[in-house]
Amino acid sequence: MKVICTEKSQILATSLARALKIPVVEVKYSRFPDGEQYLIAGELDDETIIVGSVVDNDSLVQLTLLIDACDSSSNLLVIPYMGYARQDKRFQKGEPISARAVAQVFSRGVKEVITVNIHEKGVLSYFGVPARNISLSPDMGEYIKTLNLKNPLILAPDEGAHAFAEQVANAGGWDCDYLEKTRLSGVEVKMAPKQLCAASRSVIIVDDIISTGGTIATAATMLYQQGADEVFAACVHGVLTNGAYVHLMAAGVRDVICSDTIERGCSKISAARQIADIIKMTG
Ligand code: R5P
Repeated sequence: MKVICTEKSQILATSLARALKIPVVEVKYSRFPDGEQYLIAGELDDETIIVGSVVDNDSLVQLTLLIDACDSSSNLLVIPYMGYARQDKRFQKGEPISARAVAQVFSRGVKEVITVNIHEKGVLSYFGVPARNISLSPDMGEYIKTLNLKNPLILAPDEGAHAFAEQVANAGGWDCDYLEKTRLSGVEVKMAPKQLCAASRSVIIVDDIISTGGTIATAATMLYQQGADEVFAACVHGVLTNGAYVHLMAAGVRDVICSDTIERGCSKISAARQIADIIKMTG
């Protein structure tokens, strides 16, 4: 068994190969003069673990080509971050179900799929092969322990993310709550913890994705107004588009913590151990 990966998942794929004590196949990537992508894979084994996050359109195409290049092997596909998963239903007539379209593309040439904190579990049913999801909430909890914060408060940015926040909080037996939005006027909205008080506390807002950082930046500003000592932002998938990192720092966020499902300077948590465990468990 060997590991192979797209360019955007090199670090996670290498960590996974190390955890499984198996080799990584080298791939040469290039482009044709018209911009079309090309790749050539090294020597494959009978079984291959293909690792590729869909972080943009180029990585979607590259992963599609890589799966095709591995057609002589029996393939397990790991999609650490699956872009397009947020459009998981048809919200308006005429729209695509993008998550379904992408899942269908990645069901060809693979026998099984593993995702990490997929935005909605229902997306797994769009794959034409068995698909499983792992959650990095325990790993996030373990990372938060290393910060040695006194009595931190784990907050979800909304009720939908509360279950994830509770799993993170369980790792350290910490308090957990979610932010409730109250509309004060046509233009003014207040965000505050539903039940607990943030005053004089270290608050960690946790979510599956930080995209523009808008939600957490607004929440951080309000939490400071409510007397929070410090606010951290943690997510599994650091999409960090439109200058999100700077936006969060400008809002006073003490640190941004994310995982290597999208490889960033602030990737402090690795999905490798859990992916390796699930692969070892199922053989
Ligand atoms: C939404 O469904 C996700 O879970 C995140 O809450 C969202 O993507 C965050 O977006 P932003 O960082 O742009 O506020």
